[in-house]
Amino acid sequence: MIVCHCEVVSDRDIRKAVDDGACTLAQTCRATRAGTGCGACVFGVRAVLETYTRQDHITLHEPFEETDAATQPPRRRVA
Ligand code: FES
Repeated sequence: MIVCHCEVVSDRDIRKAVDDGACTLAQTCRATRAGTGCGACVFGVRAVLETYTRQDHITLHEPFEETDAATQPPRRRVA
């Protein structure tokens, strides 16, 4: 699913950025270029991060915990 239409960034790209070491929303946006155009997708990027890392209320620069999210089932269904 495309999350950022300006930069054509998918939820898979966002999860890969986390797996490659992105630890904040800002780092994830920088790594994928999501949110660097109009900025409308940042809430969607955050939602993907919250689901993937199994954390709520991720802020722009606050580090989120790297988890073994890739090996855990999603907490809620991802469309
Ligand atoms: S939709 Fe992501 S920057 Fe515009």
